[in-house]
Amino acid sequence: FAINYTQPYRPQFHFSPTKNWMNDPAGLIYHNGNYHLYFQYNPGGIEWGNMSWGHATSDDLTHWQEQPVALLARGFPDNVTEMFFTGSAVADEQNTSGFGAGGKTPLVALYTSYYPIAQTLPSGKEVKTNQQSQSLAYSLDDGTTWTTYDAGNPVIHNPPSPYEEEYQNFRDPFVFWHAETRKWIMVSTLAGIHKLALWTSDNLKDWSHASFFGPFNAVGGVWECPNLFPLDLDSSTKWVMVMGLNPGGPPGTVGSGTQYFIGDFDGTTFVPDEDSVYEGNKSANWMDWGPDFYAAASYNGLDERMAVGWMNNWQYGEKIPTYPWRSAMSTPRQLSLKTIGGKPTLIQRPHAQIQSIEGKDHSSSWKFFEEGTQDLGSVGKTLDIELSFSASNATDFGIIVQATPDFKEQTKIGYNFTSQMIFVDRRNSGESSFDGTFASIYHAPLAPSYDGTVHLRILVDWSSVEVFGGQGETTLTAQIFPDRSATFARLFSNGGGVEDVKVDMKRVSSIWN
Ligand code: FRU
Repeated sequence: FAINYTQPYRPQFHFSPTKNWMNDPAGLIYHNGNYHLYFQYNPGGIEWGNMSWGHATSDDLTHWQEQPVALLARGFPDNVTEMFFTGSAVADEQNTSGFGAGGKTPLVALYTSYYPIAQTLPSGKEVKTNQQSQSLAYSLDDGTTWTTYDAGNPVIHNPPSPYEEEYQNFRDPFVFWHAETRKWIMVSTLAGIHKLALWTSDNLKDWSHASFFGPFNAVGGVWECPNLFPLDLDSSTKWVMVMGLNPGGPPGTVGSGTQYFIGDFDGTTFVPDEDSVYEGNKSANWMDWGPDFYAAASYNGLDERMAVGWMNNWQYGEKIPTYPWRSAMSTPRQLSLKTIGGKPTLIQRPHAQIQSIEGKDHSSSWKFFEEGTQDLGSVGKTLDIELSFSASNATDFGIIVQATPDFKEQTKIGYNFTSQMIFVDRRNSGESSFDGTFASIYHAPLAPSYDGTVHLRILVDWSSVEVFGGQGETTLTAQIFPDRSATFARLFSNGGGVEDVKVDMKRVSSIWN
């Protein structure tokens, strides 16, 4: 899998497949020193289809090696009878499933079987056209090759009562071990009715329906790809439920988005905190305010919680101007909880190992930055920027990145002091003709910190920007497709000046070298 990393728009430090279509991350597991990244993959084309699990591995969440396809659509390429939709993976240390052999810990993946045609399975089960069911596969070689559990699949055939009719929208099992009740837990989605179904099991094969969650908050389109995990908040443990919805993302975006809830989980039921739920579906807790962060999934097998999103959007995902691949994954984000402005809030930070591929600082500071601009020169297309500043009389302040020498193409990232919003303006960021909604400006709320400082951390790659605002309580991710010559950067202050400006800029090197 030799990646041609000079291809136009090829991400230099984000994972993208050598060729073909990719969507959701799936089966994220850290096991025996390896981070596994499986993903929705079309082995036969550059648009969605023939869904299989592609595979990549890393020992530092930074450098990725693409591996052979882990679960290939059954019957590919001529007569596909089962596709492998999004799911998750666990290490079955105690061999509760009985798939272990020769002292090897089985890795067990739960995924959604999508059956495009009606058929009788080897297990004797009859499935209907376009049925979605939950199935199992296991690996005895640390995640390299997988065997589907044909004698028992699907392990959950139909949605729980009274929603059996939702069998065409029943998917995306997220599974984890719940130590307190000594059970496996699964969260799956009944996508069309904005409900999650939770299940419990002793052996990963036999599942009992435990509870439902939803609908709450954002309910546009379908609910997909749920995740549920604990995080510390002060001296207690809270649980976070994350899910994608498509369409119906954050205000000002079109297409896919990701929301979260904070609450409690007792082994059967997830109860959201009162201040995590908005009356009348009026609002939502957005995990990311940009257009290109979807189907977020988190790692099993780590003490910390690390999440990866699909850096694309169903609105235009199949039309983005990259070739011969489509889609990249977000920078892995470390998650935590913090009370901000009196409210428990999800905090996201780029994972720490990214520093291992960062070079040479460019730092500058201004006691007072006058209204106007300050050129930073040709700084390149792969950057990790830290920007902090305090209000004076400016209306907005920020940085232009990936500008062509004439600044006709540019991506503008900044902060508006009046609205207290971060913005990413990709209206002139380069190629955008593939979709009428792409050339837009996006906003995300961020209050200045207690001392009045605004802090932005911005990761820039050849075809994306990811903004982490404040302590990481607000993020905004957007793809861009600028010209090869777009390597220039510039600071700007409009309507007045700002105080205490600090810029710290690092170059990020390619992980494919
Ligand atoms: C989300 C999704 C999932 C599904 C997968 C199919 O992007 O629609 O719900 O499992 O993609 O590729």
